[in-house]
Amino acid sequence: MNNAGIIGTGHAYPSGILSNADLEKIVETTDEWITSRTGIKQRHKAADNEYTSQFGVKAARQALERAGLTAEDIDLIICATTTPDQIMPSTGALIQAQLGATNAAGMDIFAACSGFIYGITMVESMIRTGQIRYALVIGAEVLTKYVDYTDRSTCVIFGDGAGAAVLAPVAEGKGILATKIRSDGRYEESLYAPGGGTKLGTTHETIDNRDHFFKMKGNELFKVAVRSMAEISKEMLDKAGYTVDDVDLVIPHQANQRITDAVASRLNLPEEKVYSNIAEHGNTSSASIPIALDECLRSGKIKEGDLVLLTAFGGGVTWGGTVIRF
Ligand code: UT7
Repeated sequence: MNNAGIIGTGHAYPSGILSNADLEKIVETTDEWITSRTGIKQRHKAADNEYTSQFGVKAARQALERAGLTAEDIDLIICATTTPDQIMPSTGALIQAQLGATNAAGMDIFAACSGFIYGITMVESMIRTGQIRYALVIGAEVLTKYVDYTDRSTCVIFGDGAGAAVLAPVAEGKGILATKIRSDGRYEESLYAPGGGTKLGTTHETIDNRDHFFKMKGNELFKVAVRSMAEISKEMLDKAGYTVDDVDLVIPHQANQRITDAVASRLNLPEEKVYSNIAEHGNTSSASIPIALDECLRSGKIKEGDLVLLTAFGGGVTWGGTVIRF
């Protein structure tokens, strides 16, 4: 049995920026409200001719370079996304083609903001059992094309971007030590885009009702998010044989600074051990954790030997936690 670990990461954003001041001109909101309720100051926004796979490919190329691998070395590409280029084929397959990963299978995981943790959890067991050797797990989103810019409670939160990680067999005692994913579909309507699927289809009525855009009961999600991320974090640390005191850094999904602060407080974690980049990037759903991971590895915030906890929560609802020794 091999341990699976992360051996290279990368990230990419569209160059377009939507600031809180820009949003003040679109909906009835203020920089003060957005900053104090979410911690967000700006988010990246794709141009009309930009789409999800392009950012996934850019992030993946960086991750491959850092891992010292070529696209042909990869056996599996998982793209976690809620905002695919199109319904079919999968964005993972489109990324596979754009990378020239001729030996890989490409596929998508639909688990909203927990998608990256879903991806590494699936890949970890495949590497551990020797079914595959090298995998790319990508979180890529162009959420701003699914955001309703007449709904001030959602449009201020989401931003675009992609992060990628190459997973491979690593030495004993290193890599992913514990990982788990969960979902509860009874919360379907807490965060959903009801239009465009086989239930409602795409009709003049669904368009008029704006059913193709995200709808969110933010307040309802807030409490479940804090509880779920804190619980699964403790459970995974326990499974890996560690306590919160052993952790060098926590990278939570960047949903809302207040959610991050509440999770940190439940876990008794000091501020400096909890990473946040939400002010510059907003909530990028499945991309937020791999983007943050790449930032931390590049800046030296995560060093060889560090114990890192990842935890996510998203629409579905879905959640997950992973403990990694770098
Ligand atoms: O990514 C994972 C899934 N998503 C989440 O986990 C999101 C979790 N939820 C949140 O981040 C927060 O609930 C929001 C940021 C979405 C909303 O913050 P809140 O503190 O929960 O606000 P609220 O929904 O309770 O609304 C409070 C007030 C309302 O006004 P009234 O009814 O009190 O008069 C809203 O209409 O704030 C109003 N409001 C706004 N005001 C100015 C809502 N959005 C805005 C806005 N600007 N953008």
